[in-house]
Amino acid sequence: MVSSAGLISEDFRAVAVIGWPVGHSRSPLIHNFWIKRHNIAAEYRREAVPPEKFADFLLTLRDRGYIGANITLPHKEAVLSLTEPDDRARAVGAANTVWFEGAGLRSTNTDIEGFLANLDAETPGWEKALQGALVLGAGGAARAIVFALIERGVGRIHLANRTFARAEALRERFGAAIDPVQWSDVGGVLPDVQLLVNTTSLGMTGQPKLDIDISRLPSDAVVADIVYVPLQTPLLAAAQERGLRTADGLGMLLHQAVRGFSLWFGVRPEVTDELRALVEADLKHGAAIQE
Ligand code: ATR
Repeated sequence: MVSSAGLISEDFRAVAVIGWPVGHSRSPLIHNFWIKRHNIAAEYRREAVPPEKFADFLLTLRDRGYIGANITLPHKEAVLSLTEPDDRARAVGAANTVWFEGAGLRSTNTDIEGFLANLDAETPGWEKALQGALVLGAGGAARAIVFALIERGVGRIHLANRTFARAEALRERFGAAIDPVQWSDVGGVLPDVQLLVNTTSLGMTGQPKLDIDISRLPSDAVVADIVYVPLQTPLLAAAQERGLRTADGLGMLLHQAVRGFSLWFGVRPEVTDELRALVEADLKHGAAIQE
């Protein structure tokens, strides 16, 4: 195999992020930082693959020289039927990471541990006095976060979504811990929760602001946002102004990458301040689009 540096090595390994479009993905920056840090003969690339070519691409992944991949929009659901998903990917109904295990291609969803590891790092003890959580949104990201909260034993998860039927669908999927809430009733739920998580695209650059008044949250509440463009969303800014602890979307993005790297290379990388600064600098320069 020939690396981009032109070196020929039996041990050279390639990984890619597969999406459509894929130019905005920060995954190459993150994984190539770790590859260099750990002195691994490997390269992490971008592969722009349209939906009609995705199945063929994935089924020939090994022939193309890849030992694994990240899967991003719009393929995160299609990947399930083309691989052997683990319990997490199956429960969430979406996967973002694939790797070879024997002859088979496995898939998993690393947003679950990315969300939890980020909260643990940024807001330690967040689950101690937790009586209830409020999750905004009902898409793939919300499903991963609901699964994560259930895994951590959170017994009461209020879930608000603009399209109420999608909130109800999550109750069907995850059971009685989920309390579907009308979007207009969010304010009434805030006093009862110690964790608020935004999984919608609201607050992202180019999108409308998330219009909720967080003054009714308890003073020990934690606020998390999955949006990372901008790094400090209006929601996180309002929470910090109130003195609430926060966990941002970039932290989740960095932490979700750890498991993929471990699966592909057998080394567990670290989320360091240096890595965070590197991606922050790139976000400031780059296009304001989120993966
Ligand atoms: P993902 O899989 O990345 O979570 P998604 O399935 O497109 O993405 O979900 C986006 C979420 O943001 C949804 O919960 C969506 O609400 P709907 O289910 O009603 O579409 C929410 N969202 C997007 N724009 C919104 C807006 N202007 N107001 C309220 N919610 C919005």
